[in-house]
Amino acid sequence: MKTTGGSDAQKRAAGESAAEAVEDGTVVGLGTGSTAAHAIRAVGRAVDAGLDARGIPTSFQSRELAREVGVPLTTLEEADGVDLAIDGADQFSGPHLVKGGGAAHAREKIVDAAADRLLVVADPSKAADRLDRPVPVEVLPDARTTVADEIRALGGTPTLRRAERKDGPVVTDNGNLVLDCDFGEIDAPATLAADLSQLPGAVEHGLFVGMADEIHVGTDDGADVRRF
Ligand code: A5P
Repeated sequence: MKTTGGSDAQKRAAGESAAEAVEDGTVVGLGTGSTAAHAIRAVGRAVDAGLDARGIPTSFQSRELAREVGVPLTTLEEADGVDLAIDGADQFSGPHLVKGGGAAHAREKIVDAAADRLLVVADPSKAADRLDRPVPVEVLPDARTTVADEIRALGGTPTLRRAERKDGPVVTDNGNLVLDCDFGEIDAPATLAADLSQLPGAVEHGLFVGMADEIHVGTDDGADVRRF
């Protein structure tokens, strides 16, 4: 389910642009994926150069990378708030996002929602007039079939996400499964998000409605910053 539409140079331009917003004394949410990874590396370089910042990772991947590049870590419990979060997206339309291509959207949504500002980093292939990517829904293993039935009742087509280098399904960092739910073009993201949030056994879905404060779109010449 990973998306790889843009070039690495575009992803890097986006990540480095957003990382410039990390100031001395801030707590920053560290998103997941190949674009957010560029931001984490940029924050690591800034810390090396003397920046005082602490990160809250959103996944095993972002924690591992932050440690590797020397970003001091904290937690939601320990930190006195989150100043900003920098996170990737699988698709964006205005401030609305589809996330979860890396199955990290549950922790991402917790950290991104806790942040005063969410800076999304993306390459141009993620832009859409209307969201239409399948929406990942993380489910408790026992709820896989019941949630799938509810998704069908909402007009979606659920597909259990399969692992690529393991037999069987993808298991999230939280020990759950993921249903990728195709709803076609999503006319009313807020309504669909509310419906998905009510399903028993659905831990979190990948619709981030109106959550982006800025989207840093990496280009071959730098970054185009959209503010909402
Ligand atoms: C992780 O579950 C996702 O929400 C990522 O943020 C998203 O897949 C973006 O990843 P890339 O930057 O690698 O496309």
